Amino acid sequence: MSLELSTEAPEAPENAVDGMWLECIECGETFAPFEAVRYTCDDCDSLLEVRYSTLPTWDDFDGDGVWRYSAALPFDDAVSIPEGSTPLHYVPRLEKGVGVNRLRIKHEGMNPTGSFKDRGMTVGVTVARELGVDRLACASTGNTSAALAAYGSRAGLETLVLLPEGKVAAGKIAQAALHDARILEVDGNFDECLDIVQELAARGEAYLLNSLNPFRLEGQKTIGLEILEEFRQDHGRYPDRIVLPVGNAGNTAALYKAFRELVQAGALHPRDVPKLTGVQAEGAAPMVEAIENDADEVRRWEEVETKATAIRIGNPVNAPKALPGIRETNGTAVAVSDDAITSAQRALAKEGIGVEPASAASVAGLQKLANRGVVDEDEDVVCLTTGHLLKDPDAAFEAGNEPEPVPNDTDEVLSHLEGQSSGRGGILKRLLGR
Ligand code: F0G
Repeated sequence: MSLELSTEAPEAPENAVDGMWLECIECGETFAPFEAVRYTCDDCDSLLEVRYSTLPTWDDFDGDGVWRYSAALPFDDAVSIPEGSTPLHYVPRLEKGVGVNRLRIKHEGMNPTGSFKDRGMTVGVTVARELGVDRLACASTGNTSAALAAYGSRAGLETLVLLPEGKVAAGKIAQAALHDARILEVDGNFDECLDIVQELAARGEAYLLNSLNPFRLEGQKTIGLEILEEFRQDHGRYPDRIVLPVGNAGNTAALYKAFRELVQAGALHPRDVPKLTGVQAEGAAPMVEAIENDADEVRRWEEVETKATAIRIGNPVNAPKALPGIRETNGTAVAVSDDAITSAQRALAKEGIGVEPASAASVAGLQKLANRGVVDEDEDVVCLTTGHLLKDPDAAFEAGNEPEPVPNDTDEVLSHLEGQSSGRGGILKRLLGR
């Protein structure tokens, strides 16, 4: 853990309300939290962060799910479905295969709409209700749109989602449709959808609920809090490293903020902060490029491609918050191939854990770093799997066994089972191109 991680608790400025305010991460300008709709700094247009004059310690947490951590959040009463309390799976075979001391999988696909986005939306949509806005919007590679549609509907608010046409997995569009969002399919990629939504928000047409919205990241902090609490309960210590897929780098920023606040509250020693390790697909890896080149800023990639469509992102908007998170926790970032993602998806499935491709990137990244010796065999590691298998049924079909047609007759079924090898070898051969 680098000494640069600030351990000073913040002092409330005059415009704080109930010990809470918004602060620009670049120029330090402060704003009252709910006096106006605001996503970035009025002065320098940089990212904002929610700050608190009192930071909680472990004893201040009580109950279940995201709202167990209300002492670390802007409210204690919320639009909730409820969310959080996701499993931290043991994966003994995978742990042995990767070659680390301990490997646990935090499966965020077990949230109400099947991804971690619910943790951000329960806070973000509550803020929208507080502000009194009537229309919500997001750009999305799919999961954000599913979560926004569900939480927006629950709050009785109109929801607009802008999706890159042809690049969103079927399960996610189905969710947005049934939860009553207006779905606008844009002839462009996710980053271009986000450009449009930001423009709509700036013109006052809708309240923006992408992770650029600082309140969403407050909810996502609870992933880190849950991991630390549960890991310590099970193993008497904190994990050395947390590996997570990176798209807009919202989770990377949120986990870093959770750890910083715990350190500031005296609830976590700086040396116990897990190394944040980001994984991107090779075809969409601007954060990895910035980490590898030791760059201060991330270069926007105009062309991106990967089968992990959730992280098909070339302009990670939270990079200014996430790059310091990776560096100051002594973490790293790595890019993985689509084939490695599919292998990791299958390896997780063999442990009974069904995830969508982007989620499997975390395990693929860990494997690559362990092979390179960057991750030590003594390490205790948690991989984050961010979305459920059913989000992307097409990817699951492609990676899994093929159904075998059989006659409607038991004897024929038996003779089929005896006479032919299972589809498994066949599909592996096909995927290997043999
Ligand atoms: N994993 C999944 C399954 C996702 O849906 C996303 C982002 C990420 C990882 C990346 O997380 O942005 O915090 O680095 N999905 C967004 C969406 C962009 O629109 O659903 P991040």
